[in-house]
Amino acid sequence: MPSSSAADPTRIIVNGRSHPIEHADEPLLWVLRDELGLTGTHYGCGIGACGCCTVLVAGEPVRSCQITAASVGERPVTTLEGLAERGPDGQVTALHPVQQAFLETPLQCGWCLPGHVLCAVALLNRNPAPDEAAIAEAAQPNLCRCGGYNTIKAAVARAAELARRS
Ligand code: FES
Ligand code: FES
Repeated sequence: MPSSSAADPTRIIVNGRSHPIEHADEPLLWVLRDELGLTGTHYGCGIGACGCCTVLVAGEPVRSCQITAASVGERPVTTLEGLAERGPDGQVTALHPVQQAFLETPLQCGWCLPGHVLCAVALLNRNPAPDEAAIAEAAQPNLCRCGGYNTIKAAVARAAELARRS
């Protein structure tokens, strides 16, 4: 994997595209939201406690309020907006199985959704058939202020089923 120190600090790779950025020393969360307009990544606590700012960096869940954009280096970042398949015109052609499952099993306010969706994507990438304990472990680090943990676990189990069929 390329060293982050060798990377151009004025660009980051997000959802498959390299983007110029102005505030590389700011938290990745704010660069994604304010510079790139990717507001699917939510702000909750800003201190690494809630998980709603989670994105994938090189496939691993990371709390984007806790790292600078520069620290990402050349590692690819995936946000909620980068999960669906899109056609040449940029229109969504197919939701990711995790998105489809959360659509079928809606949460209450959705504040925690980005963290749960991206942690579920990472889980299914490393374990396509997670049992109840693995699903609970993946969901546990992300707070849901509406107490929707049973719904979240049901959605992740459904996502695993959809992913195995696709
Ligand atoms: S906003 Fe990043 S963990 Fe809460
Ligand atoms: S659904 Fe409201 S915080 Fe989780």
